[in-house]
Amino acid sequence: MTTLLTPGDIETAADLLSTGQLVAFGTETVYGLGADAQNPRAVAAIFGAKGRPHFNPLICHYPNADDAFQHVEAPALARKLAAAFWPGPLTLVLPRRITCPVALLAGAGLDTLAIRVPAHPVALSLIAALGRPIAAPSANRSGRISPTSAAHVLAQLNGRIAAIIDTGACEVGLESTVLDLSGPTPFLLRPGGISLEALEAVIGPVARGITSATAEAARTLRSPGLLVSHYAPSLPLRLNATALAPDEALLAFGPPLQAAMTVQLSASKNLAEAASRLFEALHWLDANAPAQNLRQIAAMPIPDHGLGHAINDRLTRAAAPRSQAG
Ligand code: TXA
Ligand code: MG
Repeated sequence: MTTLLTPGDIETAADLLSTGQLVAFGTETVYGLGADAQNPRAVAAIFGAKGRPHFNPLICHYPNADDAFQHVEAPALARKLAAAFWPGPLTLVLPRRITCPVALLAGAGLDTLAIRVPAHPVALSLIAALGRPIAAPSANRSGRISPTSAAHVLAQLNGRIAAIIDTGACEVGLESTVLDLSGPTPFLLRPGGISLEALEAVIGPVARGITSATAEAARTLRSPGLLVSHYAPSLPLRLNATALAPDEALLAFGPPLQAAMTVQLSASKNLAEAASRLFEALHWLDANAPAQNLRQIAAMPIPDHGLGHAINDRLTRAAAPRSQAG
């Protein structure tokens, strides 16, 4: 059985981590499934608990930028981004230093490491209490929707991990933006909680599309984080719906279409509100639509700027044919 802990149980959670066990914890983005990043067996256990392919690398979470930059080669650009956005929902992919003590498996054997300083007091206390970085992917089974509450984590991982620290709902609700700084130009690997516009305001143009060296390497390795089908609910999902079929449940954005069952992302078309509700909405529809004989989710169009870019990225992957899932 998985133990449910409270933010008051940080020492207990840190003890579990230091003995190689897995502990899920809330961050500002989604719940992470944590292990001591310097313990290869604990990192290996993450892949087992999630059913995650070993070639998909994990993000390492640090208490501050100075500690993070001890493990990677950080150019001035990385330091500028850290100053602007950390703690916060931005992950930087940088070359590992030769002295980096993080388990090679955490980086899936790549010569880069993804690092992030989360903006959540409980997550930061947990990392501080452990005294080492925490490797943590999102705390869902591989290919499924990321969890934004302790209940979501339990539903997918109960009995497979030692404990969960319940910190309530996640504020951002979407994973971090992943930016590759290991090549000659900054490259967006995954849109997320920090918008492309916000990044470009600090460092100028950011490239995107699958062409960076790291993305190519990850694709060669068939990294599921970059696969087309990901973040999938059990029910099929249809995008850009302007009218509904009788067997469809509605994922609404703004004034809703007529539907038998509706979950509203943001009545006022606020993209931050919609992002924070997206995964909860998909979890809820998955759990409740079948009982009403609804067999598909139809999502209304969402504008493709700011956080809308990340929302559409997740919806597109969730709607992709499942045969491509890793
Ligand atoms: O918000 C988040 O980022 C959450 C919280 C828990 O921090 N974590 C998260 O982790 O979403 P995960 O494992 O679900 O997604 C990490 C993504 C994957 O797409 C992975 O392929 C990519 O980051 N990634 C990790 N290390 C990488 C590396 N060295 N090079 C390229 N991509 C990397
Ligand atoms: Mg994930």
